[in-house]
Amino acid sequence: MTTLVAAEAVATPLSGQPVVRPATPADDAFVEDLQAIAFGPGRFARTAFRVRERFPIDPSLSLISEVDGTPSGSVWMTPISVGGMKGYLLGPLATHPNFRKRGAGKLLAREVSKRALARGEGHFVLLVGDQDYYCPLGWVPTTPGNIQFPGPVDTSRVLLLADDPELAKTLTGSIAAFEAGV
Ligand SMILES: CC(C)(COP(=O)(O)OP(=O)(O)OC[C@H]1O[C@@H](n2cnc3c(N)ncnc32)[C@H](O)[C@@H]1OP(=O)(O)O)[C@@H](O)C(=O)NCCC(=O)NCCS
Repeated sequence: MTTLVAAEAVATPLSGQPVVRPATPADDAFVEDLQAIAFGPGRFARTAFRVRERFPIDPSLSLISEVDGTPSGSVWMTPISVGGMKGYLLGPLATHPNFRKRGAGKLLAREVSKRALARGEGHFVLLVGDQDYYCPLGWVPTTPGNIQFPGPVDTSRVLLLADDPELAKTLTGSIAAFEAGV
């Protein structure tokens, strides 16, 4: 009995703290509004957006963070390949301004990457983002110019998470369809 109570206590989210769950179609309006708030009208011109135009996101890897039952953040994943190797492009990642600095963004980035790589098909999680935010989570800078995006990108922001510590240095090629990789 004591053990059961202890287990339940661990599973119960702390009030005010973000938890993560898979997104459902009922979250679509929240996510659309959130991305508009977080990235503005310029979001459609972003290079990462062009990748998602060519290659669809995997809805089973869309996650929502919520705080006390209220959606607070969102992350998407796009299966891709680079240089014949399968992986994922993470983004957009956004937390609603009312819920920032509670750990939701880092929780979403970590959790979606863990779930994607655990499938055993993709070998890396690529993203375009701030080193100060993502490097403490395990992402490392790639070799500038090695990974070609379908548009301009600040190469110092092209970051990679992988089990293989050498991959960020060596991965080379254009972003292509997931199916084009192994
Ligand atoms: C970036 C973003 C997702 C962070 O969400 P969040 O839920 O507040 O993140 P967390 O609570 O996990 O982390 C917050 C910490 O990261 C820091 N941080 C936030 N954005 C940062 C950035 N771009 N670079 C470095 N640090 C950053 C915060 O200052 C805070 O620091 P603290 O813990 O020392 O106070 C959110 O600010 C957001 O939606 N921004 C607009 C969209 C965006 O830029 N998305 C990322 C695209 S790469």
